[in-house]
Amino acid sequence: MDAIRLGVNIDHVATLRQARGTTYPSVLAAALACERAGAHGITVHLREDRRHIQDDDVRLLRHSIATRLNLEMANSKDVLARALEVKPHEVCLVPERRAELTTEGGLDADGQRSTLRDTVAALQGVGTVVSLFVDPEPRQIAAAAELGAEYVELHTGAYCRYAGAAAEGELRRLMDAAEQAHAAGLGVNAGHGLTLENVGPILRLPWLDTLNIGHSIVAHAIFVGLEAAVRAMLAKLK
Ligand code: PXP
Repeated sequence: MDAIRLGVNIDHVATLRQARGTTYPSVLAAALACERAGAHGITVHLREDRRHIQDDDVRLLRHSIATRLNLEMANSKDVLARALEVKPHEVCLVPERRAELTTEGGLDADGQRSTLRDTVAALQGVGTVVSLFVDPEPRQIAAAAELGAEYVELHTGAYCRYAGAAAEGELRRLMDAAEQAHAAGLGVNAGHGLTLENVGPILRLPWLDTLNIGHSIVAHAIFVGLEAAVRAMLAKLK
């Protein structure tokens, strides 16, 4: 079986920059360091409040990285316009609430079919592959397939928060969702809250293509450097 691919989310390199309004640390330099270490893609979230990644970061990354750019975004008019202009390789549509610390739950693809349908089609129209970030629920996977997305990204946040039997139960739900997604013709990605310590069991998900991991890698990088932190995660995925 092919190794699971790693998309490194570098939002929090930008968080550090925005905290002081400086020009450093460079988000592009961080992306290139991740690539040197073997990352298969670079992920950034252009939030509506622009709290970390900025429009110019997305443009620069799109033209400067050698791997694939995965843009996470809410289904909002302003951010969609940016995405259609930049044409990332992939867009992962996520729910967004302004006050949240990070993406809290999966997208309600089932409940928002009518508003998502045009967005999925518009992105695909400029050649962007579309993924929907969903909780491991049968009706959300079915909606993603019906909307014509190419991938789902399964939300691993609950698995990461739980321990013991609850974590095992959530892992089972993720495995079932991955099977359902594959059977419906969807590619399977996963992510959120993953660390060197908790990622192991997630590798049991069937049909897993890419894991998108950010916060824990950037945090580890404080002690060992970004390339070493990415290599450490890649070693876990082998
Ligand atoms: N996948 C999605 C859809 C996300 O929104 C995020 C957080 O931006 C991640 C993956 C990465 O999560 P973490 O930073 O917890 O690794």
